[in-house]
Amino acid sequence: MNLQDFLKVLRSRWVTLCVTALAVVLGAVVVSLVTTPMYQASTRLFVSTTSGSSVSDIYQGSRFSQERVISYAELLMGQSLAQHTIDKLGLDMTSAQLQANVTASAKPDTVLIDVDVLDSSPVRARDIANTLSDEFVAKVRDLETPENGATPDARVVVEQRASIPSHPVVPKTTRNIAIGLVLGLVAGVGLALLRDLLDNTVKRRETLEEITASAVVGTIPLDKERRKQAAIAYESDNSGIAEAFRKLRTNLQFLAVDNPPRVIVVTSSVPSEGKSTTAINIALALAEAEHRVVLVDGDLRRPMLHKYLDLIGSVGFSTVLSGRVTLDEALQKTRFPGLTVLTSGAIPPNPSELLGSQSARNLLSDLRGRFDYVVVDSTPLLAVTDAAIVAAGSDGVLIMARYGQTKRDQLAHAVRSLESVGAPLLGAVFTMMPTRGSASYSYYGYSYKYENDDSSTRSRSARQLLARSSVPNIGVAEMGQSETGDESPQTGRRRRHIGSD
Ligand SMILES: Nc1ncnc2c1ncn2[C@@H]1O[C@H](COP(=O)(O)OP(=O)(O)OP(=O)(O)O)[C@@H](O)[C@H]1O
Ligand SMILES: [Mg+2]
Repeated sequence: MNLQDFLKVLRSRWVTLCVTALAVVLGAVVVSLVTTPMYQASTRLFVSTTSGSSVSDIYQGSRFSQERVISYAELLMGQSLAQHTIDKLGLDMTSAQLQANVTASAKPDTVLIDVDVLDSSPVRARDIANTLSDEFVAKVRDLETPENGATPDARVVVEQRASIPSHPVVPKTTRNIAIGLVLGLVAGVGLALLRDLLDNTVKRRETLEEITASAVVGTIPLDKERRKQAAIAYESDNSGIAEAFRKLRTNLQFLAVDNPPRVIVVTSSVPSEGKSTTAINIALALAEAEHRVVLVDGDLRRPMLHKYLDLIGSVGFSTVLSGRVTLDEALQKTRFPGLTVLTSGAIPPNPSELLGSQSARNLLSDLRGRFDYVVVDSTPLLAVTDAAIVAAGSDGVLIMARYGQTKRDQLAHAVRSLESVGAPLLGAVFTMMPTRGSASYSYYGYSYKYENDDSSTRSRSARQLLARSSVPNIGVAEMGQSETGDESPQTGRRRRHIGSD
């Protein structure tokens, strides 16, 4: 993984990163809140020794004091002094507990000792520090006085007495939050990388190409408008998603140029991957280029086309196959010029059998004779065999993979089920590609260029003219490449979109 990949992971997993960092910072705040505040009171002791008046005596005395200071610091933290202090103040604690909260440190090359006492009560901290120091002064006097009662060799005075501390020294809230933030970010990055490592959904163009062993012929962005209205009004729409479908149409026209596919099945591995929405818009994009197109609802279990296009759903594919109506009666014109729809008809009890029947094959070949393109929306491949059955009798299949949702093994399984019936795979389509973040980079880069290009003002009729030009595929492809970064399926494997994954 290079730096770019690393940044991409962070950008796409920013929620994980932020939530983890926030959780750890919150943890640090909670720890600070539940920690009992501790106050620190300090005294400073001065150690002096009895010495003569000569320079060498003074030097000797000073050395003697410095050596004493080390031992005194140990005694200050000792058990007997702690017990004396507890007895004197009548404290409810053991000497070990007090010892744990007393620190005495000798300043190097000086005769000073700093005594720090921690306690949950600021007043008690002060009292302990002062009493401990006073007790120590008395103890040194005892220890250092010779048996004959002569002047003590060393003396300790409390140079600075303790006062009541105003602020607790524990918890250190700001420090805890800072540490929490750093640890949280580190944990967040780790978690983001781990999630990326464990993520087995399809997110990369290369992965999609590898699993399907075919080219990616389209990348359809996520467009919330499609949830309200599946069909794009191409005559007035130059949005990113409309351009993506136009580009898909261009690529379709490049596929198998000697024997262009005309009966095209749209399927995917699992439900809700955008099959019906994509089928509708492929059909509309082909109709925009003035092809005669029929869209067939081959999903006889959960048909949606009639709902998405406001048509009658009770008369359609199944009703024609049962002989109750003729094909002419079942075909419905739509409000979109050039697009005719054969809805599902009544839901039959045996969809797979019906779709595999000779009558169904005849029906599709009848439609092929009447229209330039027959686009068949179908069921998910992993749920039922319907899609594979229809696919086997088609010119080619477009397999959808929903960005970040479709799992690699699901897609691989779906491709295997198409292979097992000998259905020709035309290409793969990425659906619902996020329009923000790293995933959308190439797409929106080009889209931006398109919106800002003078050529975006090119009229619809001019675009249609190009689409219908005597060398239609090249004309459209060139337009697509210059405006929207179109990519032909032939060259798709070699020319990658910059940062498209
Ligand atoms: N490009 C898109 N942007 C945003 N939403 C989309 C897009 N494509 C499809 N959707 C939404 O995703 C949902 C599923 O879409 P759709 O019905 O087309 O999927 P499907 O694969 O046909 O589902 P099923 O397997 O149930 O037939 C719908 O709510 C639809 O509006
Ligand atoms: Mg559907």
